[in-house]
Amino acid sequence: MARRKIVAGNWKMNKTPSEAVALVEELKPLVASDDVDVVFCVPAIDIIPVAEAVKGTNIAVGAENMYFEEKGAYTGEISPAMLVDAGVKYVVLGHSERREYFAETNETVNKKVLKAFEHGITPIMCCGESLEQREQGVTMDFIRQQVKVGLQNVTADQAKTMVIAYEPIWAIGTGKTATTEQAQEVCAGIRACIAEVYDDATAEAIRIQYGGSVNAATAPELFTQADIDGGLVGGAALKPDFGKIVNYK
Ligand code: 13P
Repeated sequence: MARRKIVAGNWKMNKTPSEAVALVEELKPLVASDDVDVVFCVPAIDIIPVAEAVKGTNIAVGAENMYFEEKGAYTGEISPAMLVDAGVKYVVLGHSERREYFAETNETVNKKVLKAFEHGITPIMCCGESLEQREQGVTMDFIRQQVKVGLQNVTADQAKTMVIAYEPIWAIGTGKTATTEQAQEVCAGIRACIAEVYDDATAEAIRIQYGGSVNAATAPELFTQADIDGGLVGGAALKPDFGKIVNYK
């Protein structure tokens, strides 16, 4: 069975609550699609107004992070139950910016992935190499470790429903999209890794996105590669261009 494409915007630390609602209103008609799952991953404080604004549309709401404990004395953190209650369906976990600036590790990402599944939230687990790692020829070794540790104790049935986003760090926010061949090669490598850890059926079901300077011009070729099931989009998700990316065909 063909995998359904999924195009998600990662708004990062952009848009106040009122700006977020205005952007949703602008994008709503542009991202309408029967063929593609559309997700807006927004800052925590924007989740409630955005969830209200997307009611009755094809847009699902995602969070950009989540804590791995149920509740308690974790000042400043957001729990999975809070996200579920606010209408969140997806959560971005282990984005390279969180790994770089907020000390996320493969182990904390794994705890969050398991917790998201416990609460019925679909993880979008990010992985991706630095420029130095690519130049050293260790891209796939590094990503295999991120994926394998991130998926510890995740069952095959759970893995089948999740999303992995391959985002080479050197392509994020740089305007330097990976070539289609580079993106396809790594996404195929991730799928092969899933087949090794689980089985072919799981590898065939899991959705793998590419992220890193995706725009309306690069999306069509990227999203039609055999192992690329859509994209995780930063800067271009805040513009009308996102409609063209969703409707890349
Ligand atoms: P850009 O699309 O701005 O490069 O960001 C990609 C990204 O980090 C999405 O998570």
